[in-house]
Amino acid sequence: MAAKRLAKKNAPPTKAAARRRVAGLRRQIEYHNYRYHVLDQPEITDRAYDRLVRELQDLEGRFPDLVTPESPTQRVGARPSAAFATVEHRRPMRSLANAFNEEELRAWGSRCVNALGGEPAAGYVCELKIDGAAVSLTYERGVLTRGATRGDGVAGEDVTANLKTVKSIPLRLRADRPPAVIEIRGEVYLTREAFEAINREREEAGQSLFANPRNAAAGSLRQLDPRVTAGRPLDIFVYGVGAADGATFRTHAQTLQWLADAGLKVNSHTESAAAPQDVLRYVERWTARHTGLRYETDGVVVKVNDLGEQTELGATSSAPRWAIAYKFPAEQAVTKVNDIRVYVGRTGALTPVAVLDPVHVSGVTVTNATLHNEDEIARKDVRIGDWVTVQRAGEVIPEVVQVLTARRTGRERRFTMPGRCPSCGTPVQRETGEAVLRCTNLACPAQVLGRLIHFCSRGAMNIDRVGPKLLEQLLAQRLVADPADLYALTAEQLIDLERMGSKSAANVLVSIDGSRRTTLARLVYALGIRHVGAHVAELLAAQFGDLRHLVRASFEDVRDVPGIGPAIAESVAGFFRNPANVRLIDKLLATGVTPAPARRAGTGPLAGKRVVFTGFLESFARPAAEALAKERGAIVSGSVSAQTDYVVAGGSPGSKLQKARALGVKVLTEQEFAALTGNTKE
Ligand code: IVH
Repeated sequence: MAAKRLAKKNAPPTKAAARRRVAGLRRQIEYHNYRYHVLDQPEITDRAYDRLVRELQDLEGRFPDLVTPESPTQRVGARPSAAFATVEHRRPMRSLANAFNEEELRAWGSRCVNALGGEPAAGYVCELKIDGAAVSLTYERGVLTRGATRGDGVAGEDVTANLKTVKSIPLRLRADRPPAVIEIRGEVYLTREAFEAINREREEAGQSLFANPRNAAAGSLRQLDPRVTAGRPLDIFVYGVGAADGATFRTHAQTLQWLADAGLKVNSHTESAAAPQDVLRYVERWTARHTGLRYETDGVVVKVNDLGEQTELGATSSAPRWAIAYKFPAEQAVTKVNDIRVYVGRTGALTPVAVLDPVHVSGVTVTNATLHNEDEIARKDVRIGDWVTVQRAGEVIPEVVQVLTARRTGRERRFTMPGRCPSCGTPVQRETGEAVLRCTNLACPAQVLGRLIHFCSRGAMNIDRVGPKLLEQLLAQRLVADPADLYALTAEQLIDLERMGSKSAANVLVSIDGSRRTTLARLVYALGIRHVGAHVAELLAAQFGDLRHLVRASFEDVRDVPGIGPAIAESVAGFFRNPANVRLIDKLLATGVTPAPARRAGTGPLAGKRVVFTGFLESFARPAAEALAKERGAIVSGSVSAQTDYVVAGGSPGSKLQKARALGVKVLTEQEFAALTGNTKE
């Protein structure tokens, strides 16, 4: 009270009094913030709240050394940055395997029961799958020190300044004895209403519109200026803990309760389910109800509740086995096909696309829908002028589901695919066994453009200022012919382009320059090798470690990488047999593109080691042992070669053990392996 009077009277309070008052104000503001933004149960008026904030700002203004990063006045403190730093997650942020119907969901449940040798001890937890952007929040001794995007799951972008502007994210945990470090995971989202308001504003300002609330949330999180993010009413639901030092939980439900008690926002529709029937009831209920929520959800996530059982079930390279995402069926709408156009992609594939009367599907206006290929057009018998149902399923581009033949008038026109590439005129080809027509001219302008767009895309080299429009101009002006040419662009060349000022030109160059330091996996993915998506690129990078090794790899070398089959191996080896592709790689490296070798987790005895398992293990299920080795940073391989560091041999080992002995590879017993992972029973 004394300090408050002092502040009011404007007489300078003593430093000690100010310090006490600042601490009290912060506690009050944090509490009311929590009541308002997390519980949605405010206790005081907005005016009373603003008064508290103003008093705190005033005191902090007079005593700047009392300002701390977690003070409620620091939510929009940071200046715009030039780029986000990359941060490695302490534990990978995996995605989830999907179930598209009840049968697939039941099959997942059965797999868990089989692996565990019975029903899960503490049942399941059912949650809504929030359709937003995944983030990780690190609290050290209770204070928010870092917020990151998911990125590729291994490393994301440091968006701390932006996440601090999200009012439902506490800057300080409500916990008496907070853990030394805890990394919390959740989904940042925008309500449908907020999304529409943002798009209305953008439309008025002549800016491009966000396709859906998820893209708007992800885009808002990746703003370089936190003030822009602060203007977007982002919200969060947290759903788990990635890593924790100094906190132990027994079940997922208990973890969620702890998170809620610590002041974080957990979705109130989360429920425990003792038995599979309870899970199915939850799924049924929310399939019917989810469109009534204020925010978008695209399914239900079911998790095995017991955390010990979660560890036992382990994970594949992309997703945990202890959880599954049941996807809600896609929403459909009826509209008319006004035209069918053909687009040529980076691989030369010709894709027919239906041009539609604009129609609303799952909260988004759809104007185009893919028809996939000519067989699909024939199978569905889609004609220009037809009425059709279209659907949008998550990420996927909208597609035409079926024709409403009863509405035909007889004026509809059949469509045939062109015999020549619409971009370059080369006769198209259809490979045996393939449904797609392809333009085989590698110099086809549409393919060149497609390859450049892919090279710059987010999952690849992530050159965010270089999009399709700019690339089209660069090609038209003959400033670039291949991706390596991007690195030779100058400000003068860019300024001459339409709608490009000196500031934008400089930003473009910074963005290109920044992409020189990248990861091997990104570069491999960016090359656009057929069948090599982001995941396969990760596998290749982890196995070969260096671009030169990959370029020289034989078909067999690639085929032996676990998770890679002969079709991919042939495509990869074939790509590097083409001298033009090797020249492109040399040119890229010569421009200063430096891919960092594949990341290896940790520094323990298994970090970066190539490990092969053979024979029957006594105390581990094979997948659990492999998961453990990977968790410790090892690369688990299916076959023994001179590059193998350890072969772990269980009972009745096969030819792999013989090969290991012949090559002089170190052979470990199961107990030695357990000791190396720090997983001994004693
Ligand atoms: S758990 C390792 N729970 O869905 C398991 N994820 O496709 C981590 N998501 O990237 C995910 N709501 O961002 C989990 N209740 C929920 C979720 C949820 C949305 C997102 C998450 C993840 C993606 C997986």
